[in-house]
Amino acid sequence: MEVCRTIAGYRAVLAGYRAAGESIGLVTTMGALHHGHMALVAAAKAGNDRVATTIFVNPTQFGAAADLDAYPRSEAADIEMFRDAGVDAVLIPSVEEMYPPGEETIVETTRLANMLHGAVRPGHFRGVATVVAKLFNIAGADRAYFGEKDYQQLAVIRRMVRDLHFPVEIAGVPTVREADGLAMSSRNVRLSPQHRREATVLNRCLDHAEMLAARGGSAEHMYGDAAEMIGEQTSGTLKAFDVVDPDTFEPVTGSVTGPAAIMMSVEFGEGDDAVLLIDQREIRP
Ligand code: PAF
Repeated sequence: MEVCRTIAGYRAVLAGYRAAGESIGLVTTMGALHHGHMALVAAAKAGNDRVATTIFVNPTQFGAAADLDAYPRSEAADIEMFRDAGVDAVLIPSVEEMYPPGEETIVETTRLANMLHGAVRPGHFRGVATVVAKLFNIAGADRAYFGEKDYQQLAVIRRMVRDLHFPVEIAGVPTVREADGLAMSSRNVRLSPQHRREATVLNRCLDHAEMLAARGGSAEHMYGDAAEMIGEQTSGTLKAFDVVDPDTFEPVTGSVTGPAAIMMSVEFGEGDDAVLLIDQREIRP
């Protein structure tokens, strides 16, 4: 596996693949790899001749500096995981190269980025779209793979690719879960043992909401029950529970009769130790 620390070096490696007529699947990450990332790599391997990855903890998608500082980092282990999974090349660029001094260009999906989870985390999706646009330009991959857990992120990236005519195909990969249902996330390692036990509530709320939808329940009923489950069964704080149209992301109200996406986030702990977990479910009653 080629470990590239500069954009030029990575481009040269990937240009070699293209010159040989090989297709490239891209997996962008912020490191702290887990089985969820490996599912993206497996999908990229299955669909392409070569797999290119990136590890870059992107500062512009973090609100508070404390959240950026607290983000887990495990570069040496990440490189080994990618190597073992058969990745061909990884880019691990510096912040200075990704954001050169005096940089002033941003990419923003103006509506999608600022609603729902984007309203709770102002600037987050602008940071994601900007860095992903840079990485797409750097890699020139045929396909790029993103987890469905980050449902709104996936929608933002799809919209950006469509609007800006990036010649890359976007593939969503189903969420990988722990045995008890908790969606895998790099943030899970920051949970205290108590919060780790409580964190299964997200998946249970989604199971419950899906069951309600099957019985003709309303979006308001889903929200009310989720708030009750979290309040009664955990010390976490429900930050968002949105039932939306999967295409427009407009809120669904009343009885959920057609396809809908539920996106929720719960915060565990306080202050610098706070960990925000997100999960999602697409339902088709
Ligand atoms: O999902 C992530 O890990 C990040 O948001 C991404 C897409 C790598 C951009 O920094």
